[in-house]
Amino acid sequence: MTRDELLYYLGSVREGELYGLFKAADIVRRRYCGDEVHLRGIVEFSNYCVRNCLYCGLRRGNDKLRRYRMGVDEVYEVAKRAAGAGLKTIVLQSGEDPYYTLSELCEMVERIKGLDVAVTLSIGERSYQDYRALRLAGADRYLLKFETSDERLYALLKPDSSYANRFKCLEHLSSLGYQVGAGNMVGLPYQSLDSLADDILLFEELELDMVGIGPFIPHPDTPLGGFDCGKIVATLKVVALTRILTRNAHIPATTAVATVDPEGRRKALCCGANVVMPNVTPPVYASDYRIYPKRARWEDSVTKAKGLVCSLGRSVGRGYGDTLKERGRKEGFTPP
Ligand code: 5AD
Ligand code: SF4
Repeated sequence: MTRDELLYYLGSVREGELYGLFKAADIVRRRYCGDEVHLRGIVEFSNYCVRNCLYCGLRRGNDKLRRYRMGVDEVYEVAKRAAGAGLKTIVLQSGEDPYYTLSELCEMVERIKGLDVAVTLSIGERSYQDYRALRLAGADRYLLKFETSDERLYALLKPDSSYANRFKCLEHLSSLGYQVGAGNMVGLPYQSLDSLADDILLFEELELDMVGIGPFIPHPDTPLGGFDCGKIVATLKVVALTRILTRNAHIPATTAVATVDPEGRRKALCCGANVVMPNVTPPVYASDYRIYPKRARWEDSVTKAKGLVCSLGRSVGRGYGDTLKERGRKEGFTPP
């Protein structure tokens, strides 16, 4: 698909045309990823963050948020329960929180790897040496969304971050043999359709193993609280187009999609997505992981996720759900 075609679909409001797009993405998903939906359990282990992104409820400037940190033992116990429920991937996510030492993070990864699961980290920008140590501790995958490919918008939304460093981090992760995920938000203030087309082209160019796409949801305790919410249809278009361009990247039906539409996960799974990420954070903490407000809650999320997958006539992935990219097969890989 050319950039012009991407732009055409991003701008289209014709129902028949969009139905065709979603259907095509579903066919591509089926052909390149099959009917398995992979479940990944997310543990949000700290909501402290040193950064001040304008859109995010975890930003350091939000003093209305009750902050928490889980200890290494506590994270391990949660992961153990999730693994016991059959999950084959544990995603460890937090704000950028320097409180944890590198050796504590490595210990967390090492112990959880002992549960016979794949481990994904989503803990932000760190040095090459840190990424290397965490990879050697056993981490398999890393999620670092670039949020927008538009450098000016990036600078506006993430005033204390560097666009160049974000991509440098993605490069480091890839060179260390991580399966790498990035992603964006759809419907950000001042985001153009052109920049969304560029986001999708960049997903393809970076040969990502995973791509997370979610609508922007305004948070009242952030500077962007007064802006409009990203639309579900716009988000589904980006999911579908990303599926068509990347073919076999893992694409989750995100919590953000479920937050803007109660049927959001189902819809995303029907137009390109092949992953669901049940939240296994203990409820006492989960309500404080307020990246954005009214975050979709899924009680007994693992059971519900399995139910959703079965109701679509698809099956729950039985393996670890590793990358489907040839480039990304890194068995026996020793980081440089
Ligand atoms: N709306 C939607 N997604 C958000 N994120 C942060 N704030 C918001 C918001 N207001 C997402 C970003 C980021 C992750 C921590 O959560 O994509 O990568
Ligand atoms: Fe921190 Fe990430 Fe939120 Fe930015 S988006 S404030 S880095 S948690």
